[in-house]
Amino acid sequence: MSLFITFEGIEGSGKSTQIPLLAQKLRDLHHPVIVTREPGGCPLADRIRRLLLCPDQEPMAPEAELMLYMAARAQHMREVILPALVKNIIVLCDRFSDATTAYQGIARGLDTAFIENINRFVTSGRRPDLTLLFDLPAEEGLRRSRRRNQDCGIETDRLERESLDFHRRVREGYLRLAAGDPERFRTLDASLPVAAVSAAVAAAVLPFLS
Ligand SMILES: Nc1ncnc2c1ncn2[C@@H]1O[C@H](COP(=O)(O)OP(=O)(O)OP(=O)(O)O)[C@@H](O)[C@H]1O
Ligand SMILES: [Mg+2]
Repeated sequence: MSLFITFEGIEGSGKSTQIPLLAQKLRDLHHPVIVTREPGGCPLADRIRRLLLCPDQEPMAPEAELMLYMAARAQHMREVILPALVKNIIVLCDRFSDATTAYQGIARGLDTAFIENINRFVTSGRRPDLTLLFDLPAEEGLRRSRRRNQDCGIETDRLERESLDFHRRVREGYLRLAAGDPERFRTLDASLPVAAVSAAVAAAVLPFLS
C-alpha cells in the first residue's frame, strides 16, 4: 500500500510535534514509515533549506525564493519520496506543495496557477493522498513558535520574522486550499491540547490504512 501524507499549517501549529506521534502509532501497527520534511529531506535539498531559512543575507526576490523551494522539492521527490512510495513505505512529510501555494502564492502574491503547474512538474504529478491542515490563529502560532525558539535556543528564521499580517494571509490561504480540495484535506483544530490533536490525526489517517 502506498500512502503519502503531508502536514501543513502556519508556524507553531504543531506539525513537528504531531509527526513523530503518528509515526510511532503507525509503527506500533507494523506499518513501515519514513518521516521527512520540506524544504530539505536529502543532502541537496538540505543545502537549499539553509539558503531559504537563513536570515542573514540580502532580501530574497520572491521569484528566487519560489524556484529554490521548487528545486529542493524536485530533488526530495526523486531521491526520497517516490522511491519510498514504490516500496510501499508510508511517507509522512512536514510541509509540501501546499506550503508553497499558501506562502509564496497566496501570502506573497505570486501567481498560484503558475505555482501549481511547477508543483506538478517537480512532483511528477504525485499528489499527497491525505493532507492534514493544522489550523490555528496566527497570533497563537507565532506565540508558540517564539516560545519554542527561546526554550530551545533556536534563532528565529527568515519566515518567522514576517509580519503577523503575512501569517494571517498564510492561514487564510491554507483554509482556502482545504475548502477547494475537501477530498484530500482534513482540517484539524490545532489549538486543542497535544493529545487531542494527536487523536484527531489518528482518526483522520485510520481510514487510509488497509
Ligand atoms: N497542541 C499544542 N498545544 C500547546 N502547545 C503546542 C501544541 N502543539 C505543539 N505545541 C508547542 O508549540 C511549539 C511549536 O510546535 P511545533 O514545533 O510542533 O510547530 P510547527 O508547526 O512544526 O512549527 P514550524 O512551522 O515553525 O516548524 C512547540 O514548542 C510545541 O511544543
Ligand atoms: Mg516544524
